[in-house]
Amino acid sequence: MELRCKNLLSIGDLVPTEITHILDTAASMKEVSERDIKKVPTLRGKTVINLFFEPSTRTRTSFEIAGKRLSADVVNISASSSSVVKGETLRDTGENLQAMHPDLIVVRHSCAGAPKMLADVLPSAIINAGDGAHEHPTQALLDAFTMRERKGSLAGLKVAIIGDITHSRVARSNIFLLNMMGAQVCVSGPQTMVPRFIESLGVTFIPSIIDAVRDVDVIMMLRIQLERQSQSLFPTIREYSRFFGLNRTVLSHARPDVLVMHPGPVNRGIEMSADVMDGPKSIILEQVTNGVAVRMALMYLLIGK
Ligand code: CP
Repeated sequence: MELRCKNLLSIGDLVPTEITHILDTAASMKEVSERDIKKVPTLRGKTVINLFFEPSTRTRTSFEIAGKRLSADVVNISASSSSVVKGETLRDTGENLQAMHPDLIVVRHSCAGAPKMLADVLPSAIINAGDGAHEHPTQALLDAFTMRERKGSLAGLKVAIIGDITHSRVARSNIFLLNMMGAQVCVSGPQTMVPRFIESLGVTFIPSIIDAVRDVDVIMMLRIQLERQSQSLFPTIREYSRFFGLNRTVLSHARPDVLVMHPGPVNRGIEMSADVMDGPKSIILEQVTNGVAVRMALMYLLIGK
C-alpha cells in the first residue's frame, strides 16, 4: 500500500487505513533496531536533510538515526549554524538546499505553516517535525504506535490529555489522530490554557485533573510551553504543579492499568513528579524508542518506493 500524500504536514494528510499501515510498517522497522547490526539498505542513495529552526533532542536525533538505519545519507542543519542568522529567508534556504537534490527535508520551525510553505515550492518530500502550536504529526504517530503496542488497539481507548492544550502541537495532532482511529479523548488543564471551543475538535473538557484521570487507559501529560506564551497564564509554577501536576496522589484515582505518557522534554517536578515519571506506569522512554521505528516507517513509505 502506498501513501497518497507526498508530504506529511498534518495528521489530516492521512486516512485511518494509512495510519494503520504506517504503524504496521513501524512494527517491522522496530525489529531492525533490536538487531546487533542495526542497518538495512532500504534508502541507500537517498539524501535526507534535517532542517531544524527550533531546539530538539528526541525528534532530530530519531530522524537522524532512522535515516542512518535505513542507509540514507543524513545531513543536519540548525538555524543557529546556517545562513538564516545572516538574514536568508526560509524560502531561499529551502531552494538552496533543494539545489543539492535531497529526497526528503524534515522541518521544525516556530511558525505554524512553515513546512507547508516549503512543501508548496519544493519538489522534495517534506515532513513536519513540529511547526509552532500547529501540529507535530510524527509525535502523534509514535504515541499511537506506543498505545497500540501496549493496549492492543486504538479503537475504544480512553485518553486524557492534560496541561497546556492551547500551545501544544502534540495535543492537536494526537486529538486528530485518536479521533480518527476511534479513541475517546478528554482534555484537562487550567482554563487559561485550554482553547474556548476545544469541544468542537470532538473532545470533552474536564476541569479537574482527578476527574479527568479517573477512568482512562492513558494519561498524556504535556509540557508548559513557556516559549509560546505571551503572558503569564497561571499565578505561579507551584500552583500549576499543585492543581495540574500528575503526582502519586492524583494517580491513585486512576485505574491500576493506566499508562502515563509525555512527549518530552518533561519539566520534572512541574507537570509530573519525579516518582511518577520514573515509576512503573510511565512509558515515556518507550515513546522515544518507538519514535525511531515510526520515523523509519515514514521515510520508507514516503521516499523508499
Ligand atoms: N517530543 C519532542 O518533540 O521532543 P524534542 O523537542 O526533543 O524533539
